[in-house]
Amino acid sequence: MSKKTIAVVGATGAQGGGLVRAILADPSGGFAARALTRDPGSAKAKELAKLGAEVVAADVDDVASLGKAFAGAHGAFCVTFFWDHFSPEKELAEARAMAEAARDAGVKHVVWSTLEDTRKWVPLEDPRMPTLQGKYKVPHFDAKGEANGIFAALGVPTTLLNTSFYWDNLIHSGMGPKKGADGRLTFVLPMADKKLPGIAAEDIGRCAYGVFKRPDLIGKEVGIAGEHLTGVQMAAELSRALGREVVHGAVTPEAYRALGFPGADDLGNMFQFKRDFETDYCGARDLAFSRSLNPSLQTFSQWAAANKDRIPLG
Ligand SMILES: NC(=O)c1ccc[n+]([C@@H]2O[C@H](COP(=O)([O-])OP(=O)(O)OC[C@H]3O[C@@H](n4cnc5c(N)ncnc54)[C@H](OP(=O)(O)O)[C@@H]3O)[C@@H](O)[C@H]2O)c1
Repeated sequence: MSKKTIAVVGATGAQGGGLVRAILADPSGGFAARALTRDPGSAKAKELAKLGAEVVAADVDDVASLGKAFAGAHGAFCVTFFWDHFSPEKELAEARAMAEAARDAGVKHVVWSTLEDTRKWVPLEDPRMPTLQGKYKVPHFDAKGEANGIFAALGVPTTLLNTSFYWDNLIHSGMGPKKGADGRLTFVLPMADKKLPGIAAEDIGRCAYGVFKRPDLIGKEVGIAGEHLTGVQMAAELSRALGREVVHGAVTPEAYRALGFPGADDLGNMFQFKRDFETDYCGARDLAFSRSLNPSLQTFSQWAAANKDRIPLG
């Protein structure tokens, strides 16, 4: 029987890369990976080709290229790249382009990598956090959540996949422990004693693969995480993995927003949302369900042990 092709947007990146590798690691699973990239000649694209992926040129800003890349595919993994441009409007336009291309190509199962539209919990007039970019509370969440409706309105058979904070942010996004004023290594998480659902970035793609194997999830909204941990618990796990004391730095979201790096206001609002709506946010990311999609789902302690030498310590 011929394999069902999954067209993977962002295949050279974290989420899409995990999915391509998950498909290729399961040769008897009945699926084939089509890796979409703007540059099939890049080292990362060549690496995916070497593993067995079909590598195809496509740009989410170029609808015609998406149409070609989705043609004949059974499934499509759709993701946007907020931190490349910081524009929710661009994310919405890209989500629409992917949804239209999937509809026109007759794709049977789309997995849309999304997040909550926080304005459903914190309306714009709510003063507890500032409104950003004119009409958002957490721009990189809200546009993704708003785009959920585009897939539905176009009648695209879609699973909405709510992802979680990548633990890899401690390696790549400057969120690792840093030396505090008292000289101690401090892991800053502005969520007081509330739990942060987190996940190894590679596990998102593995979970998405599990979703493609579950056609009963079409039309459903699901959420994934590897663990739900407080800042104190994460600091304790980091101490164990690094063999050095790491303490939790309990700053306020206000202080976090004021850090001034690009996107600090968006992330400050995001952590505040996760802190203030812990029950809803954690409840939408069931751990047993995530593990049912991806039996090799890592815990934070496993992730930290495997990545301890890659975490920069400021
Ligand atoms: N960091 C977190 O904790 C976290 C948590 C949940 C969700 N997210 C969301 O995850 C999203 C990013 O996903 P990611 O981390 O998997 O991305 P990533 O690792 O930065 O990879 C992005 C890949 O997408 C490709 N790409 C970029 N622009 C493109 C375009 N215009 N057309 C086609 N491909 C393009 C690039 O590949 P080529 O150069 O090969 O084309 C790149 O390798 C963001 O929207 C973010 O909000 C992040």
